[in-house]
Amino acid sequence: MILYPQAFIYDLDGVITDTAEFHFLAWKKLADELGISIDKQFNEQLKGISRMESLEHILKLNSSLLKLTSEEKVRLANQKNEYYLELVESINSSNILPGIETLLSKNKEQNIKIALGSASKNAPQVLDKLGLTKYFDYVVDASKVEKGKPDPETFTTAADYLGIPYTKCIGIEDAAAGIEAINKADMFSVGVGAVEHLSHADYLVGDTSELIFEEIVKQYIEKSVFL
Ligand code: BG6
Ligand code: MG
Repeated sequence: MILYPQAFIYDLDGVITDTAEFHFLAWKKLADELGISIDKQFNEQLKGISRMESLEHILKLNSSLLKLTSEEKVRLANQKNEYYLELVESINSSNILPGIETLLSKNKEQNIKIALGSASKNAPQVLDKLGLTKYFDYVVDASKVEKGKPDPETFTTAADYLGIPYTKCIGIEDAAAGIEAINKADMFSVGVGAVEHLSHADYLVGDTSELIFEEIVKQYIEKSVFL
């Protein structure tokens, strides 16, 4: 029997909108103030993981900072979030990445459920600013899970709420940790980005304009047939 997908679960930052860049700029500003230099290559490992885990990765670059108290770490994480919120303050529907709204409309047309699977505490607010909340049947953000990506909990929580078997879900991600989470959930993973970071995706596209509904479903069915 050919399996047709029943849910699409979208990552937010770097898939629906380019806030992945804003997270990087906010971390870079904080790191600069701490005398630490970070670049885009280093940033790849921060994608998809929580705010506090990202901070720990940055502090590891300067061993003297690892001794900070947890209160000091929370203050630094809050400071980064303030920088991030300044950057997302003015985003609106023009910041939706190419192809995304067409894909969401196709999902609706085909009665496919739509969920968000984001590690960000700011996700509901960002989705609202983009004017996309209306498409989503369920939103999983950092507050709804105990274990963040690469643990599958973000994706399984969405599927469980929707009542859809994991093998009938497709997850879309720009982060290596996110693809790992989708794969561990036994879902079909679609990566957006470079093969250098996302070679473990079931299907990989270079950017969101290449996220074509029919092609994604075709790839999903091909994989299901060979299982
Ligand atoms: C993820 C981003 O979606 O959310 C990470 O890829 C970010 O870069 C994480 O650190 C947490 O976001 P926030 O908004 O809760 O600090
Ligand atoms: Mg992302």
